[in-house]
Amino acid sequence: MFAILVAVTVVLLFGFIWNKTRSRLTHIPGPSGIPIAGNAFELTSTFIMMQKMHEWMEKFGDIFKINLFGEEIVVVSGTLTGEMLVTKGSDFAGRPRIPALESLEGNEVHLVLRDYDPKLRFIRKLVHKGLRQYGEGMDKIEAISVTEIAKCLDKIEKLDGADFDPFPYIHHAISQVMNTMVTGEAVPDGHPMLNKAIDWDRLDGELSQDITLFLPGMDKLAFLLSGKLKDYAGILEFFIEHWRSYEATYDKENMRGLYDVIYKAYLESETDEEGIKISYNNVKYLMFELYGAGITTTHKSIYAFVHMMVTHPDLQKRIQAQIDDVIGSQRTPTTADKHKLPLLEATIHETLRYISHLPFALPHETKKETSLGGYALPNKTQVWPLLSGNHHNPKYFKDPLSFNPDRFLENDGSLSPASSRRMLTPFGAGTRNCIGEVFARTRLFLFTSSLLQRFTLLQPTEGKLNVLDPKSEDYLKKIPCVCPNFKIRAISR
Ligand code: HEM
Repeated sequence: MFAILVAVTVVLLFGFIWNKTRSRLTHIPGPSGIPIAGNAFELTSTFIMMQKMHEWMEKFGDIFKINLFGEEIVVVSGTLTGEMLVTKGSDFAGRPRIPALESLEGNEVHLVLRDYDPKLRFIRKLVHKGLRQYGEGMDKIEAISVTEIAKCLDKIEKLDGADFDPFPYIHHAISQVMNTMVTGEAVPDGHPMLNKAIDWDRLDGELSQDITLFLPGMDKLAFLLSGKLKDYAGILEFFIEHWRSYEATYDKENMRGLYDVIYKAYLESETDEEGIKISYNNVKYLMFELYGAGITTTHKSIYAFVHMMVTHPDLQKRIQAQIDDVIGSQRTPTTADKHKLPLLEATIHETLRYISHLPFALPHETKKETSLGGYALPNKTQVWPLLSGNHHNPKYFKDPLSFNPDRFLENDGSLSPASSRRMLTPFGAGTRNCIGEVFARTRLFLFTSSLLQRFTLLQPTEGKLNVLDPKSEDYLKKIPCVCPNFKIRAISR
């Protein structure tokens, strides 16, 4: 017994000294953790992790470090977020390796999780060009979105006021806009692409619950996730096969969508000033990453918006009154109406703040030796911007856990200036900001304005909804966070 006790003490002592001597960040405060595992066992679920992150932010301030089996991660909030993402954006523009996920995409990451290198810069330029041509060009996005939104609303009308879960309706509409953006056309109703997109979303959420993904050495232990990774790879291949079928009819004089734009860059060996080209693998997988990013976050924002409308009926009435005034009941909302509906715009801002469904954006990594808030940081330090820490902080947003779009309005009802919303960064900011922000905001506006123009959203006949608690275990199950499934009624106006 004594021998076992001594052995355990020696291992713990060794672990403690090993962790301490290996630390490159001894000067940064943080929770002490246990030998070898560091803080890993304190972060056993997304919910607990988020609770701890906010607790540590309050205790240690705007910069602290955690340790996951020797991998040190710096967590940043407050005004240091701006220093990290914008002022010193290129110093922090890297992404850490997530080896377990890399194995899915042919041992190379292509866009979202790619490190900041010349190829990433070229890919971001290409995607921006494609989005501008096929998405952010307002006429085009409007035409695509309005058609799909109208189809979705027609389906909801057919329910004739019965209880229903809006989840698949919103998901399919958002996926169809993405399908049209990528290939130039929506898929027929009932096409397997639509349900595969839901399967992908579910699996992506399940994988994100696994904190082990971020641990060093997971490329060797990926078998622990093998079932999920196999299903994920199957869906990925399915999407790619679907898009590949469009290559046979590719015509460079008639660009149909984003896939054609990226495929053309590959076929014609387009280069940038640094002589970078993209490979065929880049074409396939970056399209997949864009497709996924374009659906998962936007869908969850609209789903939460619907929940908020049902639980805040007075707010819903005020938005409807503004829509009736500006647009009326006959004309379809357009993006030109956006600035005339400040209450709706403020409600979209407030939804994104309140739900903070990407609570620490995506992991970043330093590209060189740098500093933050006066603390020196070595090259290749993993850094997470804690966006929810800002969004739910009373220092920046009064009474942050109450849902109150009026916080973004002036006394005369107009939208407050962008400069007053500096701490609201649901899309990140700076060098690695979200590529799809304009596209996402446009779809959010068109969907929510059309929905409230046509329907009043009510509590279901059974199972009343309570106001969503963005700190609850039910909400913080996975990342991106999503409201637990719910039912409502939609009554034609
Ligand atoms: C409500 C909707 C959305 C939200 C809240 C959102 C939020 C974010 C955030 C926080 C990041 C990480 C920024 C960082 O690393 O600091 C990100 C990255 C990204 N988003 Fe979005 N996003 C949304 C919609 C979209 C859409 C519609 C698309 C595509 C059409 C998209 C494509 C991307 C891509 C490609 C990246 C990675 C950029 C890079 O790594 O360089 N997102 N997004």
